[in-house]
Amino acid sequence: MILVLIGYMASGKSTIGRILAKKLDYDFIDLDDFIEEKEKMAVSSVFKTKGEIYFRKIESQYLKEIISEKANIVLSLGGGTPCYNSNMDVILNANNVKSVYLKASIKTLIDRLKNEKSKRPLVAHIETDEVLTEFIGKHLFERGQYYNQASKVVSTDDKAETVIIDELLFEL
Ligand code: S3P
Repeated sequence: MILVLIGYMASGKSTIGRILAKKLDYDFIDLDDFIEEKEKMAVSSVFKTKGEIYFRKIESQYLKEIISEKANIVLSLGGGTPCYNSNMDVILNANNVKSVYLKASIKTLIDRLKNEKSKRPLVAHIETDEVLTEFIGKHLFERGQYYNQASKVVSTDDKAETVIIDELLFEL
């Protein structure tokens, strides 16, 4: 089985994914880390030197590679992965795939993102909370349709990691 975690930047995909994988005795793969290893470059450098279009192309290619070659993994996608991949519905509906959207409010995302902006090229340049709020709000509106393709939606606001994990394990 491949458990795919979907959600906005800083929604907790990697943290939760890592713990879940351990509990399930699965391997954990973070798509951004996988890309960085393969390209031998940080995601922010890929954006800077090669551009977002190139990033989206390789992101889809590496996702395809992982899905076709791996089994028994928890896979955390990048925040934009489901929105720029024309095969996402096929991937999410495959028999060996289960998917969860880790949903978080704008407020939760801002609180978390504020401290982690530098490694995220899409928000690194945003200086005020006001602009960040507007940016995330617009993004969530546009991306909701893709995130909601996941077979389960778990709200993460004001929940301890252990509670989210128990909820996920119960639903699997
Ligand atoms: C992106 C999210 C990032 C990374 C890239 C683009 C996005 O991943 O893939 O910076 O478009 O939302 P995380 O969600 O792991 O931060």
